[in-house]
Amino acid sequence: MPLVFSSRLLCPLNEDGHARVWIMLTITNVTKRFGGTVAVKQVNLKINKGEIVGVIGPNGSGKSTLLHTITGVYQPDEGRIEYAGKDVTSASLEEKARMGIGRTFQNLRLFKRLTVWENLMIPAIQIKKNKREATAQAEELLEMVNLSHLRSQQAQNLSIGQQRLLEFIRVMMLDSDLVFLDEPTAGFHPNMIQQFLDTLKLLHGRGKTFVMIEHNMPAIMEISTRLVAIAAGEVIADGEPQTVHSHPDVVEAYLG
Ligand SMILES: Nc1ncnc2c1ncn2[C@@H]1O[C@H](COP(=O)(O)OP(=O)(O)O)[C@@H](O)[C@H]1O
Ligand SMILES: [Mg+2]
Repeated sequence: MPLVFSSRLLCPLNEDGHARVWIMLTITNVTKRFGGTVAVKQVNLKINKGEIVGVIGPNGSGKSTLLHTITGVYQPDEGRIEYAGKDVTSASLEEKARMGIGRTFQNLRLFKRLTVWENLMIPAIQIKKNKREATAQAEELLEMVNLSHLRSQQAQNLSIGQQRLLEFIRVMMLDSDLVFLDEPTAGFHPNMIQQFLDTLKLLHGRGKTFVMIEHNMPAIMEISTRLVAIAAGEVIADGEPQTVHSHPDVVEAYLG
């Protein structure tokens, strides 16, 4: 059977050259509590290689907590998380990043006083990337999101939308295979959204898998290959985007 390499995972192909469904991440019965609040309740979710999974749900429904729990910011109180066939339930954010799970934060975590360029070079140094390779990659990513002209600016001088784009391309410098994005377009000027979506599609075309919490419905409907709806800490619908979007429980969660 022919094998195609991404940077860390093997993906077997069928005879016709199409990738078989390849489960990257399996989340089984994951629960996360804060005192008496059950923020994430018995969540089951699988992420397959090559998907762009949109995550929707009302404010306070547990979307960010689920992301924190999957990516190692929090440890789950119950349940199991498997990545590439390995149990990573109690792995830290840094350990998961080294395994190829990247993420951005709803509250950005840039080095505000460092320049745009320095923000991109730090992850490259962390993973000991070849300098010439890192430079070429950073140049290309800056070009993709139209931030090249701001490379010498301190991150804090960028608009919130531009800072979000910077955090997005910074995580791509880590060569993560699976990237979680928490409200990546919040604070965007409307004319930046399409550029972001086009960049995401391009990176997806190069083999990246994305899971993205997003409130912008037209954007999420355009980009997602699958939609997961969350309400009160539980997955209430998971499937084809149009079907999930118009699911009665999803409509009710938004109205209720
Ligand atoms: N660190 C925390 N300590 C206590 N409660 C929290 C914490 N983080 C989130 N919560 C609570 O968990 C629930 C889910 O929050 P969150 O995951 O931020 O929702 P969403 O991202 O969907 O808006 C909310 O009730 C919120 O108040
Ligand atoms: Mg949130």
